[in-house]
Amino acid sequence: MTTILAIAGSVRAKSFNAMLLATAVELAPAGITVETASIKDIPLYDGDAEATSGIPPAVQALKERIVQASGVLLVTPEYNNSLPGVFKNAIDWLSRPALASVLRWKPVAIVGASSGRGGTRRAQQQVRDALLFPGAVVLDEPQVALPIAWERFDPDLNLTDENAGAALTELLTGLVALTHEHHHVAA
Ligand code: FNR
Repeated sequence: MTTILAIAGSVRAKSFNAMLLATAVELAPAGITVETASIKDIPLYDGDAEATSGIPPAVQALKERIVQASGVLLVTPEYNNSLPGVFKNAIDWLSRPALASVLRWKPVAIVGASSGRGGTRRAQQQVRDALLFPGAVVLDEPQVALPIAWERFDPDLNLTDENAGAALTELLTGLVALTHEHHHVAA
């Protein structure tokens, strides 16, 4: 069984990006399980805390789930044309220890929804940049961004945009293919 761990970069309850996680769970291709994880309990990165107490429990738990997963789906909002600080903070913790990150060789796909017209394209590029040093293997295509997000969800926050749903399915299929390609490297 191939398991994909999906993580949203927003911690608010009615987040469009958290809703995309729920959609990914529903759209999971046959034979694939999409599980979700939250970054809500992850503390601010603190090198002193890391040196004295090690990796915090919430980070350790997320790291273990990433190790267990065949691939990771990162679902990013966009704040001020950038990757939100809370999400970058989580990625920074996950990048530790340097050169031995759980993200190393891990197949990753990136997606996101925002209220603006760019639809998280800039934030997605920054997530990609942040994954370079940790050594994740990031899916190149398709690139899926959902601009003007409120038009694509109903009042109960179900994704109603069929094209967006199809694009998300395509992204998941690409990620699964990447997990198969990199299986021999990761093992
Ligand atoms: C935003 N938003 C936003 N949207 C966008 O398309 N480009 C941007 O640069 C920004 N900047 C921005 C900054 C800050 C501080 C906030 C709080 C919001 C709007 C954003 O896309 C919208 O709030 C989304 O709903 C956030 O994602 P979640 O929480 O719904 O997943």
